[in-house]
Amino acid sequence: MASKGDVGGVEIKSLNLVLILGSVREERNGERVARYVSECLAAKGHKVHILDPQEIKLPLLQAPIHFRKPEDIPPVLSETNRKISEADGVVLVSCEYNRTAPPAMTNFLAHFPPASFKYKPTAVVTYSAGILSGVVCAQQLITLMNELGSPVVPQAVCIPTVHETRTPNGKTNNDHIVGGVKTLIGNLEWYADALRSQRERFPRI
Ligand SMILES: Cc1cc2nc3c(=O)[nH]c(=O)nc-3n(C[C@H](O)[C@H](O)[C@H](O)COP(=O)(O)O)c2cc1C
Repeated sequence: MASKGDVGGVEIKSLNLVLILGSVREERNGERVARYVSECLAAKGHKVHILDPQEIKLPLLQAPIHFRKPEDIPPVLSETNRKISEADGVVLVSCEYNRTAPPAMTNFLAHFPPASFKYKPTAVVTYSAGILSGVVCAQQLITLMNELGSPVVPQAVCIPTVHETRTPNGKTNNDHIVGGVKTLIGNLEWYADALRSQRERFPRI
């Protein structure tokens, strides 16, 4: 399906994306934020695989899959790695715990080889209960994803007082979030489409 990008209004082929959540907490706010972002992406014709550590339940890291023998890789890990490898880009929806990226997010990402993320952009969305909006975590995720070879697109969306953005229908009408997510998706589309062309041009690097 063709999707119309926000950058320059140029048509691009729809993107195949993975969205990773950073919280497994009971009654987490992250699920609502992730749903909103994924609905905005789907509305533009993009396919979004939600990778939820609460459902996928990866153990605390003992060996990443690239350190294991192929026969020792559990199916859930190979299936998740396949989705990441086939993706055109990554969306991280994360809280901040103790002024750092939460363990569910860092543990999840550490299971997979950098090669699965390399040359694909990441869009970051953080949130928090307070006014600081997870901005410290957002900076750390830039470093983390850079280490995995995934450039983080500009204009991360950082949402303060996330519990106050709830509306009865589950959708937000907060201008900062609506406008920020729209801009972020436009940036992700631009980079993901550009890097997809480069990966096709240089398939063996
Ligand atoms: C262990 C823990 C540490 C936290 N540390 C921070 C923090 O450093 N910065 C912040 O803005 N909020 C912090 N909070 C509050 C979170 O922003 C808030 O609980 C948020 O809703 C967590 O996301 P979740 O509901 O999706 O789990 C912390 C919460 C917990 C449980």
